[in-house]
Amino acid sequence: MVLRHLARPLARFIHTQAYKDLKTDPHVVEQYFRISPTFDRLNKATSTQHSAIAPGSFSLDDFILFPNFLSSEEHDRIVDICNRKLKRVLGRNAPYVQGHFDKVITGYKECRASHWGFREDDEREIYMNRLVKERIYSLFPDNYRWLDPHILDLSPDGEIRGHVDNIEASGSVVAGLCLLSPAKMTLQHEKDPECRVDVLLEPGCFYIQRDTIRYNFTHAIAGATESIWNGKPIQKDRRISLLFRNEKDDVKGQ
Ligand code: OGA
Ligand code: MN
Repeated sequence: MVLRHLARPLARFIHTQAYKDLKTDPHVVEQYFRISPTFDRLNKATSTQHSAIAPGSFSLDDFILFPNFLSSEEHDRIVDICNRKLKRVLGRNAPYVQGHFDKVITGYKECRASHWGFREDDEREIYMNRLVKERIYSLFPDNYRWLDPHILDLSPDGEIRGHVDNIEASGSVVAGLCLLSPAKMTLQHEKDPECRVDVLLEPGCFYIQRDTIRYNFTHAIAGATESIWNGKPIQKDRRISLLFRNEKDDVKGQ
């Protein structure tokens, strides 16, 4: 009896610990991250030099990148499903929203995906629901609750300027599945833009921003002219991202 009662919390504890221990593989950091000297210095928490940011108050482990998270078959299948969903919700030839000069995002279309637009027993609906549950949500503690995923379609000249996702609207996780085009994401500390990391997001990758990176850093997707990596332009094209955010109540208590 006693064991039966213990079994559940213990299983959850182990899972939560696995989530806390998640980090980007060091070889991946080397290849896909460009860390500024200021970020590096403050992250090592050895500096006593005055800064607006307390040393050691953030961690690179709060941005996790899985390149090649999807096989090319999975990638193509998800793109096809997202394209259909966007057309179904927004109309076949819906234009990209250009937005005003002060808008964070320009050149985009987006929709919420509480379902994927097929009948419940359609194999595509089953496929997507399984993929989200078994490949994405399974990386997180079991008690996290999820808002509907968002599909964001950025035109080749689209851009997302630095921002922090609304902290009232969602919790400690903003995660993205990246499709179709490579892109450069820039993370910058809100109090010091020199404290920065650039990340190369290739199609088929999955990233997680959580906790210190989600709350204290802005994130941006470079427009065409700033999309440079290793001194060379990134061949930026139309890009779709599938965004996953948890409910706000999960922020505390984990
Ligand atoms: C957003 C956002 C990032 C991405 O929609 O708020 O920052 O990877 N998207 O598309
Ligand atoms: Mn965002």
